[in-house]
Amino acid sequence: MARIPESTIDEILSKADIESVVGRYVTFTKRTGQNLFGLCPFHSEKTPSFSISIPKNIYKCFGCQKSGNAIGFIMELEKLSFPEAVKYLGDQYGVEVEWGDDDSQSAKDLKSKKDRVRSILSDAAVFYYKALNSECGKPARDYAAKRGLTKETLVKFGIGYAPDGFDNLVKHLRSKGYTDDELQNSGLFTVAKNGNLVDLFRGRFIVPIFDAFGKIIAFGGRNLGPELPKYVNSPDSLVYKKQEHLYGLNFAKKAKSKQLIIVEGYMDAIAMHQAGIENAVAALGTAFTDSQLRLASKYAEEIVFFFDSDQAGKNAAIRATHMMLNYLRKVSGLKIRIKIAAVPNGKDPDEYIKTYGAESFKAVVNSAKDVNDYLFSRAYDDNFIDGQGLDLTKFQEDIVTYGSWIYDEIKREKLATEAAQYLSARPETILNAINHAEERDMKAENNIVMRTNEREEKTEVARRKGEIQSQLPNEDLAYMQELELFVRAIRLGGSMANVEYIKREDVIRKKDFFGKNMQDLAGFYLEKFNPKNGVSDALLLQKMSEMTLNGQKAEVVYLAACDSIPEEKLKIEADKYKKCLYQIRVKRIDMELNVLADMARDSSDSNARKMIEERMQKAELYKEQLLEKESML
Ligand code: GTP
Ligand code: MN
Repeated sequence: MARIPESTIDEILSKADIESVVGRYVTFTKRTGQNLFGLCPFHSEKTPSFSISIPKNIYKCFGCQKSGNAIGFIMELEKLSFPEAVKYLGDQYGVEVEWGDDDSQSAKDLKSKKDRVRSILSDAAVFYYKALNSECGKPARDYAAKRGLTKETLVKFGIGYAPDGFDNLVKHLRSKGYTDDELQNSGLFTVAKNGNLVDLFRGRFIVPIFDAFGKIIAFGGRNLGPELPKYVNSPDSLVYKKQEHLYGLNFAKKAKSKQLIIVEGYMDAIAMHQAGIENAVAALGTAFTDSQLRLASKYAEEIVFFFDSDQAGKNAAIRATHMMLNYLRKVSGLKIRIKIAAVPNGKDPDEYIKTYGAESFKAVVNSAKDVNDYLFSRAYDDNFIDGQGLDLTKFQEDIVTYGSWIYDEIKREKLATEAAQYLSARPETILNAINHAEERDMKAENNIVMRTNEREEKTEVARRKGEIQSQLPNEDLAYMQELELFVRAIRLGGSMANVEYIKREDVIRKKDFFGKNMQDLAGFYLEKFNPKNGVSDALLLQKMSEMTLNGQKAEVVYLAACDSIPEEKLKIEADKYKKCLYQIRVKRIDMELNVLADMARDSSDSNARKMIEERMQKAELYKEQLLEKESML
């Protein structure tokens, strides 16, 4: 496993304050003291039970019990691994993330594999591009001409041609020194029964797929004729996850438009750019995903969707709408307007532009419906049968379902009011039905979230317990009093170093704790302590995420202790801290005295017994001092 230096993690946690990290996803609607509340991005709810603590620099949901620091939040929400989340925040907050040198071989291996794949992809792009412009590329050039693609467009989009034949590209790349293993990682080849590599793209018009920064990450290939399959696309690879990209974004972002137009096919997007509609991007042959929505929201305030007008396109539109509304409801800090458009006459954007021109297409874009209005017309249009009129039962069902997806109260009421005209019911009644449907769905969803959480926690705890039991008994033991001591130590912040409150000898030590994990935490505390603010909770939770206490996740135990121990003013906090410390130390001495007494009794050597007795006297003396100090508090 690769290791990121702890100092980097510290730096990220100190720069990536919880308010700004979470604030990108969650709108805070309530403040109590230093805590902000908003709707939880991890489960569905109507009243905020998700909170962040600014001084602790952590988040916590009282509904679904998730909690952690900024890194944990990003891991959970962006579905990233720990190092990925660190990198992600590092990029955003200007912290260089380097892999430590100790045991990061696998990370280096992965990086060098990815570099090789990128290099293969760019060599392949050159190969395809040259082929298009060489003699063998004539059929593809004809095809481009037939589709009305100009020379400039072909160059701008790096269009190429994969010549007919099974191994043109294999041979070319081998001659450049790539091994077969490396070639296989690129996704550009399949393996034949006899074990030979075969070009994935053969006799196809080639479109390189770029990421948002213009790097080639994959290819798409269209058949020049009517044979199937019409398109072949690169599979996901080390450098490509099709669900996370939007084709053409590298160009569209330069258009500096506040709007992005999202179409289904990359050939549509290319045609639109050529027609001067430069804010167009294409989903990459999958159902539109939440990652794509988030990516789009980085560059635009409004997205306009075009779905095909056939049944498959309509189904895709409803699915994507549901996903987006659900996502936006939870991630309330993500502000983006969604519109849905339809190309008239069953055409796709490319065909429409060719027939009616770009200006006419722009008018279609402008006529796009707000997603909420779109849902109403779907409920109406889908259930309107020629000659029979509106199927009221189905219309009502759809209104209730779609209404429950709309989280904006005013828009929801508007939908109910419009539907009321057809259903001869009062808008309130319809609204009620919608609200009920919503609650039912939320409950169902939350049950799933809870069950998954529980399952994850159980397996995690079981795993850790197993690990720990094989090492040392009671490694994760934490007595309540020790937890209190530790919580109060953290709360004292930098004042722990202020002799007015805490004398040097009253600072916690590792040996004030029994279990190894608590000792480790104390060690961590001493190591990370800085006189300005002590040790931040965020940093601490990071450390805790690697350990358990009393068989549970350490952070859960710690946060529960924080909640159950009332916070005090600094002076009182310091006194309570010391009281706790003295009592623990007295207990420790009592135990020691017991052991020493046993030893003295068992010892036959008078010299040894004398030494033991001296130690006992010292311990007694120390105990008395402690008791006296405690009585003065
Ligand atoms: P043209 O006929 O070239 O104009 O295609 P189009 O741009 O109108 O594309 P279409 O609506 O047929 O498909 C949209 C997208 O779905 C394409 O860009 C592909 O990513 C994907 N797609 C379409 N057909 C296939 C196929 O046969 N196989 C695969 N893997 N993907 C396809
Ligand atoms: Mn088309």
